[in-house]
Amino acid sequence: MTTTDIDLTHSQRKMLSEAGYAEPAITYFLEKKYMGHIPDASQVSEKVGSCGDIMKIYLQVDNNNIVQDVRYEITGCAGAVSAAMAVVDLIKGRHIDQALAINDGDVFTKLENIPEKKHHCIQLAVKTMHQGIQDYKAGRPH
Ligand code: FES
Repeated sequence: MTTTDIDLTHSQRKMLSEAGYAEPAITYFLEKKYMGHIPDASQVSEKVGSCGDIMKIYLQVDNNNIVQDVRYEITGCAGAVSAAMAVVDLIKGRHIDQALAINDGDVFTKLENIPEKKHHCIQLAVKTMHQGIQDYKAGRPH
């Protein structure tokens, strides 16, 4: 990381914090550790939010229906990115039925706080994940 990168990260943290994002949410957004795709995913599903933003989820599920890996591709805001990254931490290593039981409140708790106007972004991240699991369960082609 260069000095410029560190300055940029610092100023982004400050902006997000002033906007109402708690530390865990900011870190999820800046690190984006589960962004991308899985080439041989078991399931790929997509959802469009009421804001028009798009989320695509890639799920890798094993024969025992355990979620082994997850990635998101997102055209969306900081709220969407942080919520999606938190969803992955909540479902990785869990059974698909446990993943289906995850709700918006669980994700909000993990993020600690994001601006109220961004709560629908959490819904989009959760709905996209539920869609992916349901599609996987239904055995629909990608
Ligand atoms: Fe569209 Fe946040 S504004 S996902």
